[in-house]
Amino acid sequence: MSALGLPRLHLRATDSTSTRARELALAGAPHGALVTAAEQSSGRGRQGRTWSAPPGRSLLMSLVLRDPPSLVPLAAAVAVADVCGPEARIKWPNDVLLDGRKAAGILVEGRPFDGWAVLGIGVNVAVRAEDLPAELRETATGLGREPADVERTLDELLRALERRLAEGAEATIEAWRERDALLGREIAWSGGTGVAAGVDGSGRLVVELPDGGRTSLGAGEVHLGATWRTRAG
Ligand code: BTN
Repeated sequence: MSALGLPRLHLRATDSTSTRARELALAGAPHGALVTAAEQSSGRGRQGRTWSAPPGRSLLMSLVLRDPPSLVPLAAAVAVADVCGPEARIKWPNDVLLDGRKAAGILVEGRPFDGWAVLGIGVNVAVRAEDLPAELRETATGLGREPADVERTLDELLRALERRLAEGAEATIEAWRERDALLGREIAWSGGTGVAAGVDGSGRLVVELPDGGRTSLGAGEVHLGATWRTRAG
């Protein structure tokens, strides 16, 4: 598989790097083509949410992946966590947390049947508390780096992605489990409540139910409640 990040389109401002990358994918861009921007006006998050980032302080990137492995969302989370440091944890399926606050988000979009995906990643490289809207200050954080470090962070992340996307599903799952932020925690979703018990081999979240049974949740089907707490509450 060729190196990631070439060709690269860097934009001072755009609506969404993932929209630009999708256009490039449809026009035949090769595996690894990269779109970055200093600023987005319509950044997209998972499950229809928006993604906002102060100009110049975040890494905003979208990669075209041809024939992506099925566990791209989890492998990408592990790669981002590698860059964020040993203390980084992953909140299923792929929010990367530092000290329990979100430092990076990942959005995988695409056409599995056409054999391509766009991997969109936002990393709060140099985002400070004062850069965040009041409602996000309790739940979001940055890496504590400087705006000048955005490019270096991109470089580190591309190398980590090359490694993590090339390893097998078993290695991805094992690395993901070592970073699991939800393990043993009580969670709530639209269909019920339970205690998170890790991921299965296909990346679904396993949950122990109050009646002693178990179920597994798919990332596309489930929206975890905004609050999740320890078993002790
Ligand atoms: C999430 O946590 O909900 C996913 C956020 C993904 C945000 C990134 S920023 C770069 C790329 N372009 C977008 O519009 N979204 C992704």
